[in-house]
Amino acid sequence: MYRRHAILLYKSSVNQSVISILVNKGSWCIDMASKHFDIQPVAGRIGAEIVGVDLSTNLSDDIISDIRKTLVQYKVIFFRGQHQLDADGQVAFARRFGEVTTAHPTVPSLAEHPEVLDLDYGRTVARANNWHTDVTFVDRPPLGSILRAIVIPPIGGDTVWANSVTAYEDLPAHLRNLADQLWAVHSNAYDYAAAAVDVPENIRAYRDVFTSTVYETLHPVVRIHPESGERGLFIGGFVRRFKGLSSTESSDILRLLQSYVTRLENTVRWRWQVGDVAFWDNRATQHYAIDDYGNQPRRVQRVTIVGDVPVSIDGKRSEAIKGDSSNYNRSLVTA
Ligand SMILES: [Fe+2]
Repeated sequence: MYRRHAILLYKSSVNQSVISILVNKGSWCIDMASKHFDIQPVAGRIGAEIVGVDLSTNLSDDIISDIRKTLVQYKVIFFRGQHQLDADGQVAFARRFGEVTTAHPTVPSLAEHPEVLDLDYGRTVARANNWHTDVTFVDRPPLGSILRAIVIPPIGGDTVWANSVTAYEDLPAHLRNLADQLWAVHSNAYDYAAAAVDVPENIRAYRDVFTSTVYETLHPVVRIHPESGERGLFIGGFVRRFKGLSSTESSDILRLLQSYVTRLENTVRWRWQVGDVAFWDNRATQHYAIDDYGNQPRRVQRVTIVGDVPVSIDGKRSEAIKGDSSNYNRSLVTA
C-alpha cells in the first residue's frame, strides 16, 4: 500500500480541523478532515468528494480555508447537487480563492459573464479529449479551474484527472533527474502537421478563434507547488518542444513523461451529474474530457482563478516568449 504510516496528528489552532500527516511513497502529504464537511476520497492518489457544503451560500472563511486545504491535498474536489449555484454564484465562489481571470485568453466568454467560459459541446466547441493542464501557454497559468455541470449526457462524457505530483514521484531516479533539468515551450498554436485527420469546418473555426493570438511560454518541466512545496511534472497537451532538443527527441521524451502522468494509478474518473461542481488544482493536475457521447448534448461552464508564475526546483521562473496575457490575468492590469 502507498500510504504507509500515520505519523502525526495535531489540531489546527485556527479552525480546529484535525489534520494527520502521512507518508506517501517517501513524500509528505497532509490527510485532513474538517469539522465543516465530510471528505470522501474517490481514488487512492487523487480526488475527493466534499459532502455537506452548499456553494451558493456565503461560506465562512473557515470553510473556505478547509476547502482550500482539501484541494491542495486531493488535487481535485467534487461537490454534488449544487443546483442552487448559478454563473454569478460560481464566480463569487471562485473569488474566495483569489482573483478570477477573464474566461479565456482568446475564446469569448458567456454573454454578460466575462469570467465564465461556456463549453457547449453539443454545438461548436472542439472537445477537450486530450491530456492537458488549462492555459499553460501563458506565463501565469490558472491556480485552479471550477467547472459546473449544466447538461450531462445520460451515458458517457466523464472527465479524468491525473496527479502530476505522484507521476513525478513514480519516475525512476534517472528520468527524474532528466525531468528536473528540462524546460518546455508551451503554445496554443495547433500543430497542424501532426493532425492526420480532416477537421470539420466548425472545429476549424473554433481553432481559428483559439489561436487568434498566439502565445508561447517557457515553463520548467518540474515545478514547485507554491502551497504544498511538492514537485510535480508540468507538461501536457500544450507542450510543443523541449528547449535544446529536436522535435523528434521532444515528442519521444514528452510521450515517456506523459505515460507516468496518465498511468491509471495516478488518475480519478468522475461520472458527472447535473449540478456537480469539480474544482481542480491546475498546478498539480492534468485532465481529459472523454469524447464517448456522440451527438448528445453536454454543457459545462468554467471559471478560473489567477495563478502564479511557475518556479523550477532551482528557483527560476517561467518566461513568456510570445503574447501578452495581462488582460487575461486582469488583476495584473494597471489602470
Ligand atoms: Fe481543460
